[in-house]
Amino acid sequence: MTHHDHGSTVDPASAIRARLEAAFGAAFGPEYADTDPGLRKSTISDVDLQVNAFLRLARELREQPRLLALRFVRELDVADLAEVEVAGPGYLNFRLHDGVIARSVQDALADSRLAVPVTVAPKTVVVDYSSPNVAKEMHVGHLRTTVVGDAIVRVLEFLGHRVVRNNHIGDWGTQFGMLTEYLLERRSIDWDGSAVSDLTVLYKAAKKKYDSDEDFAERSRQRVVKLQSGDPVTLRVWEGLVAKSMEYFNQVYRRLGVTLTDEHIRGESTYNQMLPEVVGHLVESGHAVLSDGAWCVFPDGFPNREGQPQPFIVRKSDGGFKYETTDLAALRYRVEELHADRIIYVVGAPQSKHFEMLFAVARMAGWLPDRVTVEHAQIGNVKGSNGQILRTRDGETVRLMGLLDEAVRGAGEAYGEIVREAIDDDTRSEIADVVGISAVKFADLRVPRYREYIYAPDRMVRFQGGNTGPYLLYQVARMWSVLRKAELLPESAIAPITLGTPEERALALLLLEFGPTVQAVAASAEPHLLANYLEELAKAYSVFYRECRILGAPDPETRSSRLALCAATLRTMVVGLDLLGIRSLERM
Ligand code: ARG
Repeated sequence: MTHHDHGSTVDPASAIRARLEAAFGAAFGPEYADTDPGLRKSTISDVDLQVNAFLRLARELREQPRLLALRFVRELDVADLAEVEVAGPGYLNFRLHDGVIARSVQDALADSRLAVPVTVAPKTVVVDYSSPNVAKEMHVGHLRTTVVGDAIVRVLEFLGHRVVRNNHIGDWGTQFGMLTEYLLERRSIDWDGSAVSDLTVLYKAAKKKYDSDEDFAERSRQRVVKLQSGDPVTLRVWEGLVAKSMEYFNQVYRRLGVTLTDEHIRGESTYNQMLPEVVGHLVESGHAVLSDGAWCVFPDGFPNREGQPQPFIVRKSDGGFKYETTDLAALRYRVEELHADRIIYVVGAPQSKHFEMLFAVARMAGWLPDRVTVEHAQIGNVKGSNGQILRTRDGETVRLMGLLDEAVRGAGEAYGEIVREAIDDDTRSEIADVVGISAVKFADLRVPRYREYIYAPDRMVRFQGGNTGPYLLYQVARMWSVLRKAELLPESAIAPITLGTPEERALALLLLEFGPTVQAVAASAEPHLLANYLEELAKAYSVFYRECRILGAPDPETRSSRLALCAATLRTMVVGLDLLGIRSLERM
């Protein structure tokens, strides 16, 4: 038997996967070297991992799956990692050695990165996220593009990728003609509405006037031309509007603990200068054609109901450019200037057609080479309890800040119910703040981003139930408390681990899934995988805590082993929550 030294940074499941891959070639010839082993977590007790590739392969090779599995097993050397057996019609079942699991958890605990390797192939990833609109209140839709996007960038950076955050704010377009005209006529050029709700008021008032006053509408349209031609007075008012909105967005970002700052702003207006050239190139290359006075590209594969190709309009008949044109310019800029290998657009699902067509047109134009991956990370709607788009009682779209205030208030109340001890007001309000924000973010992150969910403020702040931010934070605080009582810090709890009970083994096994889970989030841009993993981990810990005495363990070795498990769980929770952008507390 050859001895394999499994490196300290490779979790056993990944090590087994590598051995499997090697064995396929050896057993069935080099053309099978790339076979996907179909390795997955097993639901059968006493089996940790299962391979099911042979059922598929059997059809191809016209052989019995069981015979294939037996032949394969002769080429597979995993004896140092697991017991393996051929089961049923041709499954391969693995049970990892307890010692292997224990040693891997110890390695992770001793490592500042929890044994999650930095990628050997760092990529430049542009992540377009948050992207609210100037002069409009941020609404719950932007909560998700912000929170999910921020989790994605954190995970990518943790794995060693070069991430470029792009906040593609809506700061350009015809509505700014209306808004600046309105402000100028009110002669409030030095207007200093301090809250953004003033901006919303402003937007509504301007819109009302625009819809009811034809002369004003006409002046607004002329104002657009002035804005676009760089008229200094108009520009100054517009800049004021953008600055006010940014101030407000930044308040929301800080409140949410989101990593976006002013340096990440690349609003629509940044691409203005490039738009004529973008359209020019499409026209010259023959990709854009005039249709009803507008310049349009008709990419293949987008028929309308009558089967006719649909246009991707890049220049309107009045000469104006569109959201579409800006996105083409932005994509080109990201590929050519930012040297993106991968671009992730964290944007609402209703825009999926826009992005599919955008990518198709960019490919036609030669701006999107095959080496660059582009993805629309679709975001589902947030709905109210009635299944409708979330609105306030008087039918307004719900303001994001108001929502956060409400969650913090709710968290404070829920916290008051579980903790009766006297705590000073400052601590109490800090706890309410952290817990309330965790509630909102976790409720958002635990749902697959492409699904809709119902915003349930009462449920998300609960400490019970196992699937809320407060529950996870509470478990974390309990882990801290155990270590404090043992006078240990997570880093100083390193000790030999033994897995004497099923609960210890289950917890340890789950800890080893952290690295692969983080990798999966990076690959799929789906942070819910990590959120759901942390829920599972918190639950496994609470079972372990209930069944296994830690501080009162029967002997000193078991005690220190269990404290090490507790510390490893704590560090995994804290790092995992941090990757989701959720702060946790040492005491609650
Ligand atoms: N501002 C847009 C909205 O609120 C989202 C922009 C998304 N990013 C992009 N490159 N189109 O719907």
